[in-house]
Amino acid sequence: MLSPEYPLRTARLLLRPLGDADAEPMLAYKSDAENVRFVPYGVLSIEDIRERLRTTWAGSVFTAEGDAVCLGVEEQGTGRLVGDVVLFWRSERDRAGEVGYILDPAFAGRGYATEAVAALLDLGFDGLGLHRITARIDERNTASVGVVERLGFRREARLVESSWFKGEWATMLEYGMLAAEWAARADRP
Ligand SMILES: CC(C)(COP(=O)(O)OP(=O)(O)OC[C@H]1O[C@@H](n2cnc3c(N)ncnc32)[C@H](O)[C@@H]1OP(=O)(O)O)[C@@H](O)C(=O)NCCC(=O)NCCS
Repeated sequence: MLSPEYPLRTARLLLRPLGDADAEPMLAYKSDAENVRFVPYGVLSIEDIRERLRTTWAGSVFTAEGDAVCLGVEEQGTGRLVGDVVLFWRSERDRAGEVGYILDPAFAGRGYATEAVAALLDLGFDGLGLHRITARIDERNTASVGVVERLGFRREARLVESSWFKGEWATMLEYGMLAAEWAARADRP
């Protein structure tokens, strides 16, 4: 059980629960076919986004395994929404979680995704007491591979054509990080 105190704060960003007002800025990056190519959903309309903001993306506390907390990533100072991140609580027994993330391309190339995912790792390990956090990435998604490798995740598997995804076979990379490994990183963002 965890009810985090929001916002989560990093050097340049705030992570906080999403709300109705986020629908418009989210449309900019969730209606872009290239930007959603490797995420589980397709191109979203403003109605799709509003519906998800009321349901799948509304949770802000962890009460049981299976819960997912999706947080808006806001630039400090400007208050602009630059993307969103999600922490899935996959298993209580194994103390396992998984991260997901997406940025507005207008804010890419500044290290914001890396910084926001670092805050999610702090939340998962220090807050929720997870033992292991994973990321699953299509190997063609080199920008996403860059995020987890900068953070020090270990590439643990390359599963050739393991996923039938959006009409084609995808080769998936599986990355993992242990709590002790994250705690030992002196240069964590
Ligand atoms: C995946 C995604 C979030 C990565 O975005 P990104 O901008 O490359 O990642 P970051 O915000 O961490 O920025 C890293 C880049 O900024 C640069 N950078 C600049 N300042 C930096 C800083 N202070 N700290 C770290 N990196 C910095 C890095 O060098 C890197 O650039 P490079 O790739 O040219 O080396 C983005 O491509 C995206 O939203 N894709 C669509 C959704 C998606 O596929 N999500 C993942 C599904 S698995």
